[in-house]
Amino acid sequence: MFSERIYNFSAGPSVLPLPVLEQAAAEMTNYRGSGMSVMEMSHRSKMYLSIFEETKADLKRLLKVPDTHEILFMQGGATLQFAAVAMNLIGATGKADYAITGNFATAAMKEAKKYGEVRIAASSEDRNHTYIPSQDKLTVSPDASYFYYCANNTIYGTEWKYIPETGGIPLVTDMSSNILSKPIDVSKYGIIFAGAQKNMAPAGMAVVIIDKALAGKELAITPKLISYKVMIDSDSMPNTPPAYTIYVLGLVLKWLETQGGVEGMEKIKAEKAKLLYDFLDDSALFNGCAEREARSDMNVTFRTTSPELDDKFVKEAAKAGFENLKGHRSVGGIRASIYNAMPMEGVKALVEFMKDFEVKNK
Ligand SMILES: Cc1ncc(COP(=O)(O)O)c(C=O)c1O
Repeated sequence: MFSERIYNFSAGPSVLPLPVLEQAAAEMTNYRGSGMSVMEMSHRSKMYLSIFEETKADLKRLLKVPDTHEILFMQGGATLQFAAVAMNLIGATGKADYAITGNFATAAMKEAKKYGEVRIAASSEDRNHTYIPSQDKLTVSPDASYFYYCANNTIYGTEWKYIPETGGIPLVTDMSSNILSKPIDVSKYGIIFAGAQKNMAPAGMAVVIIDKALAGKELAITPKLISYKVMIDSDSMPNTPPAYTIYVLGLVLKWLETQGGVEGMEKIKAEKAKLLYDFLDDSALFNGCAEREARSDMNVTFRTTSPELDDKFVKEAAKAGFENLKGHRSVGGIRASIYNAMPMEGVKALVEFMKDFEVKNK
């Protein structure tokens, strides 16, 4: 057992900033003199609504969300958005394009197939999803209702380094594992959605940023709770929202401001990722899985020379206080998720541990 906090490299739910956890703990039983926890507050109360509004305003400012777009807090995690996107948008033409760069994009496509005709606009399956197709490899159909891609592939450790050019077809992206790690031009997107449990908050919620012009065309069978129109019209509260999760997101956003916002995060995450990738490039034992140009700054995937040695590494690392380094069960290997809240010291300490492991296991 550890008496101190360990370094948690989990892909999600993931490490949250320590000052956020401490503040949440300090405010747990009596939020700012209210005599109750945020968990116990009516979501319609003045006090809770001020938390809600501030969180939304902070997110709008940090990501420079234009007035054309609305921020929604929705339940059901990122996976429910796979259906929500299709049910809300595919009705425009009955068709949609999907770029397949990993299992979450595949899962989203499977969900969309229930509601319309889905076409594969690009795929990286030929090289086991170790790369991101370039713009000239995308076949965007002029009659697609939207073009969908997953901006950061959590399992394979690849990240899109460019925004696909779709010639006016609304762009939809799953940014679950890289939202808030860098500035983004929100105006280029029809919909950005992200599960909360990596860079934002505890699990169970998705943040959706939607161009309001896209709402209101959902299929008649769309459940009320995933209708973007209903969510926009009710300011994310057609029922009880994930109130405590939104509060924690608010704390995380305040912490993010102290790090220089998303611009500050972009620098810090690039330094953290460089440290790890430079080591992998020099190592004779460890090899990065993703092709160089596609490497994710959030999920660093690598292997040793055998699955047995991968296992040994993961076990010994856990004993030394580096937790959750096992690769996703579908691909094996090793994965270090270094989201916003992973401090630089954690990455430095991991690299030192890897160096030592390499010497002992040559
Ligand atoms: C890129 C991406 N999309 C979707 C999901 C699914 O998220 P959730 O479990 O919140 O449904 C994940 C979870 O790890 C993810 O990494």
